[in-house]
Amino acid sequence: MKLFIDTGSVAEVEEIAGWGILSGATTNPSLLAKEQGEPGDIIRRICDLVDGPTSAEVVSTDAAGMVAEGRALHELHEHVVVKTPFSKEGLAACKELSSDGIPVNMTLVFSANQALLAAEAGATYISCFMGRLDDISIDSTEVVREIVEALRPGRTASQVLAASMRHPGHMVTAARLGCEVSTAPAKVLRQMLDHPLTSAGIERFAADWKTRPEFAEWLRGLVDARAASVR
Ligand code: E4P
Repeated sequence: MKLFIDTGSVAEVEEIAGWGILSGATTNPSLLAKEQGEPGDIIRRICDLVDGPTSAEVVSTDAAGMVAEGRALHELHEHVVVKTPFSKEGLAACKELSSDGIPVNMTLVFSANQALLAAEAGATYISCFMGRLDDISIDSTEVVREIVEALRPGRTASQVLAASMRHPGHMVTAARLGCEVSTAPAKVLRQMLDHPLTSAGIERFAADWKTRPEFAEWLRGLVDARAASVR
């Protein structure tokens, strides 16, 4: 499963892109509204940092407006994927933009029926919001399972993008269900790093190595010799 970061913060993208695990990013109007600076600059910077698909969302509610905004957003950067909200108008805009070769992320999809419609409209990504489903006591696992089963195997080119991830459990569930992509906030991506046995293991290895100071010297020498030979 490819990992995207869900954010409007350039600082967060800079931090997490450094780990080498990001394939793309998603923004939305709420996330960008929290940030200082011009949205176009932010979107372009995120595109450069992740060097992959970066969703930027339209806000018009009619198809023509969505298409106009989508074309303009896509011109910000070659990596921009146009996010259209699910609706009749969103489907029409998706069809028009995707027919012109502009990739679309159909967002706010909460059912397999909506996903089937988005796929037929040519969406490259279909975003299903797990956290918001769980918030209203609808089992997001079941909804995502139904979406993945309805669209697979090989019945459509659309990729299922699990979104609204609230905790690391959502990430594992999305991967096990076969979602091609998941987009997560920095907080969840950071939580995915942690395991108490990993930290304890690192501490133990370091402590044991320190009991043999001559080994530390040997390793330093090895590194220095290599550095000298490649200079
Ligand atoms: C997806 O692309 C959305 O930006 C996002 O995942 C929404 O998540 P939220 O429910 O945490 O706002």
